[in-house]
Amino acid sequence: MAVSITRRPTPRLTLKGRSILTTGEFTREELSEILDLAIQYKTLGHGRPLRGKSIALVFFNPSLRTRASMEIAIHQLGGHAVMLDVGKGTWTLEYREGVVMDGDRSEHLKEAARVLSRYVAAIGVRSFPALRSFEEERKDPILRSFARYSSVPIINMESAMSHPLQALADVMTIRETFGLVDQRQVVLCWTYHPKPLPMAVPNSFALIAAQFGMNLTIACPPEYELDPELMDMVRAHAHRNGGLVRVLHDRHEACRGTEIIYAKSWGSRHYYGRWEEEQAVRKQYRDWIVDEALMRATHRGYFMHCLPVRRNVVVTDAVLDSERSLVIQQAENRLHVQKALLAMLL
Ligand code: CP
Repeated sequence: MAVSITRRPTPRLTLKGRSILTTGEFTREELSEILDLAIQYKTLGHGRPLRGKSIALVFFNPSLRTRASMEIAIHQLGGHAVMLDVGKGTWTLEYREGVVMDGDRSEHLKEAARVLSRYVAAIGVRSFPALRSFEEERKDPILRSFARYSSVPIINMESAMSHPLQALADVMTIRETFGLVDQRQVVLCWTYHPKPLPMAVPNSFALIAAQFGMNLTIACPPEYELDPELMDMVRAHAHRNGGLVRVLHDRHEACRGTEIIYAKSWGSRHYYGRWEEEQAVRKQYRDWIVDEALMRATHRGYFMHCLPVRRNVVVTDAVLDSERSLVIQQAENRLHVQKALLAMLL
């Protein structure tokens, strides 16, 4: 547990009152400031900047890391976390505008967000996609609805399309491992998984890698390319920050000489909401696993994953348990970046 120190780290920039929906709303300087403070908190400790403040953490979906690290971060900074599990101890929530609420949802987000804003200093929201309609879910309707109706900062704890807290912890881990992040050779590698998973982590990792000027390769089968609009944004950030972006469909070629393999599975936008059809396509790619042979192709590469991960499906035991695996450090850094972010937003 972090300890308080006499001379407390203080950030140079203020982000007071801001929400974090994606890292794209923040400049590289602001993101670097969050990471600087996170590293100071991790190494030097911190005070209690959230003393007297309550923060609501609203979960529509399960979590291990986000739930534990957010609650602990708030506690260690002197604040109080109000944990709300939607539909389990709180009312089920409607987010669509203008609907007749005669179904199974009891309360509208319009009221819930405004009521919580009268109680708490910030609201964290976790809301995964239903994986039914890409056109609807790519707009992150639940998260955006909270942002629209709340009068306090909203913290995205993983939405349909973004996971900025994970992305910040990932860059912190790369910085700790290599010192510099610019021009790091990184492969975001799609892997097989028996179910279609959301695109939040790959979207956010691609975006932040470009914001920090990394040389990013996305390795995925042709059916699994990310949203073209997101990719335009990623390429624009990479261009501005001196990084490169490429998409390859051959993972062996992609991983040759790389310094990091960031593994993640995600669903296909082409088959979004049509799992029966996607299943047949996906089965062709069962061999998309990160194993020792793939790691040997790298330049003494490290393995990263946001967790949870399916052993011997996404990555082999040998790679996950090796000294080149950064997954536990990534998970620990969630705690430190969230503390830094909470202190700066509040
Ligand atoms: N990486 C991550 O967000 O983990 P959880 O889903 O367990 O919170």
